[in-house]
Amino acid sequence: MLPYELIIKKRDGHTHTRQEIDFLVKGFTLGRIEEAQMASWLMAAFIQGLDHEETRYLTEAMVDSGSQLDLSRLMGATVDKHSTGGVGDKTTLVAGPLAAAVGVKIPKLSGRALGHTGGTLDKLATIPGFRTSLFHDELITQIEEIGLAVGAQTADIAPADKKLYALRDRTATVESIPFITASILSKKVAGGAKNILIDVKAGSGAFMPDLVRAKQLKKSLIETGAELGLNVKCLVTDMNQPLGMAVGNSLEIAEAIETLEGKGPADLTELSLRLAAEMVLLGRVSFKMEDARALVESALAQRQGLVVLEKMIRAQGGDDGVIKDRRRLPAAAHILPIVAEHDGYLAINDCRAIGLAAAVLSGHQGGGFSFDAGAGVLMRARHGEAVEAGAPLLELHFTEDERRVEAELLTRKGIAVVKEKPEVWPLVYEDED
Ligand code: URA
Repeated sequence: MLPYELIIKKRDGHTHTRQEIDFLVKGFTLGRIEEAQMASWLMAAFIQGLDHEETRYLTEAMVDSGSQLDLSRLMGATVDKHSTGGVGDKTTLVAGPLAAAVGVKIPKLSGRALGHTGGTLDKLATIPGFRTSLFHDELITQIEEIGLAVGAQTADIAPADKKLYALRDRTATVESIPFITASILSKKVAGGAKNILIDVKAGSGAFMPDLVRAKQLKKSLIETGAELGLNVKCLVTDMNQPLGMAVGNSLEIAEAIETLEGKGPADLTELSLRLAAEMVLLGRVSFKMEDARALVESALAQRQGLVVLEKMIRAQGGDDGVIKDRRRLPAAAHILPIVAEHDGYLAINDCRAIGLAAAVLSGHQGGGFSFDAGAGVLMRARHGEAVEAGAPLLELHFTEDERRVEAELLTRKGIAVVKEKPEVWPLVYEDED
């Protein structure tokens, strides 16, 4: 087989066999196929598409590129949760503890921040002492005892995805439904998951801004997942504005704690309850949505999720004193409020710009600076909320002024105060299934 022939085949719209896809993935992972050729194949497949079977072959080849985690020591159903990535999305840190508090077992391998979106690991790593690298036995024991462990994906979990993702990132081929499907599901299968809840984000702060495409991604994840023997549940949820008010690593940890205390923003609380209830159903702790919902609502009211989060932080070596005293978390040196220049309604036009601003402030984007764990953006108003002249719309939390300048420009691009109340978006895009 020649890579050249396979590029022509896909370029001209033909369908690959399993052997051909295996050859491409294996060859590229082992360094036998050069980047220029793989990049050409990626673009050909991005434009011509991959059918259902090719998507499955790609997923399986990516799983086979590394090793698979064995979770069979854990009794009963385990549930994994994944988000396609958003701005201010800290639901893993709220829904995870709530679902674990009522008996769901959650082994969660998380990733780092990507582009304008945050990563659960970066957020947890702001807790003094918190360890994100867990040994296999540690992970299993912690889940048996607490119900929840959040750790870093190791290098041997779907290494082909890591290499291919980096190439997609440089060749404008990220937003392909087959590629995203294979990328997400390969990591989940290799991580030992069987029951998976996927939060597919749609809107200006998502990798898949278009709602119709987000729904197609949902369908692809469910269908490919089923063919791989996985039980996949997907929700399409809104990402046209940050979820909750906090965008930034330690700011989001503080907000997750507040939410588990029952004092969180309404949108974050509601979506976390919904996701936690879905996890309860997937974990077969209950079988009806209303029962699952009642369980997680009661866990929230009794602060049981907070107890789980505290235990998890302690088990992973972190300072569990942050639960009672948020001043133990890193904080930025300065806060700059951005205020409304006239009366009107806050309109968020570009949620991605707010995510990018937080990434710039923290040092994830912009380069050359040290990582600032306490930096980020704190929203002070919601999209569609009436604001008066002089009222704060958001705050920039920063230490380095140079970063503040860029972030301020970005946030000013992302928001406006408008005369007419803008249309507000639903939290979850419910549909037929
Ligand atoms: N998240 C992933 O894990 N992979 C993608 O390709 C996109 C989002």
